Amino acid sequence: MFEVLHLVAISGSLRAGSYNTALLRNLLEMTPPSLMITIHGIGDVPLFNEDVEERGIPAAVAALHRAIRASDGVIIATPEYNHGIPGVLKNTLDWLSRGQPHGFYGVPSALIGGSNGMIGTTRSQAATRQTLAALNSPCLPQPQVLVSLVQKKIDANGRLTDEPTRAFIHGWLVEVERWMRRFPRSEREAAAS
Ligand code: FNR
Repeated sequence: MFEVLHLVAISGSLRAGSYNTALLRNLLEMTPPSLMITIHGIGDVPLFNEDVEERGIPAAVAALHRAIRASDGVIIATPEYNHGIPGVLKNTLDWLSRGQPHGFYGVPSALIGGSNGMIGTTRSQAATRQTLAALNSPCLPQPQVLVSLVQKKIDANGRLTDEPTRAFIHGWLVEVERWMRRFPRSEREAAAS
């Protein structure tokens, strides 16, 4: 039996009824016993400003930084805003790119996303991937979870009701676990120190 992996999950949407946050909540009951996922909010992360940084890392950023470095990997659910990464998510990644080692250095990641358009966050995931590469976070290349027309697949209670999407995500979680196990936390922390 494998050791349980502890993953941090972040949603790039702050709204209460977010489909992307709902996707993460659905993951919690879809994960195998070998994965434990904890959702961390980013609503308290202030706008990045080097002057603020010089005065001290804000508590919300420090807590997220600690949680990510102590985790076995990160799952990011990203909406697509104007063909790109929502500002609140990019802002959080920019904060986490600071410090030694920075939040994501060597920490594996995987992306998921849903939009009400036809291509289900393809462009924002591509842009997020580019940022994660800059952060030296190995991001699961395939399979990609791009939930199109998400408003038809998640009900008013936030449950993912579309069976083909649920089945696809089950398979994706298997690949996420395999990917995260390729980058053991002990080796990563030894290399980063
Ligand atoms: C959007 N939306 C959107 N959808 C898409 O497929 N491509 C896009 O470029 C955009 N752009 C965009 C910009 C802004 C400012 C908003 C508010 C929305 C629609 C988007 O997919 C939809 O609102 C999702 O429901 C947002 O995700 P959450 O908040 O439900 O997780």
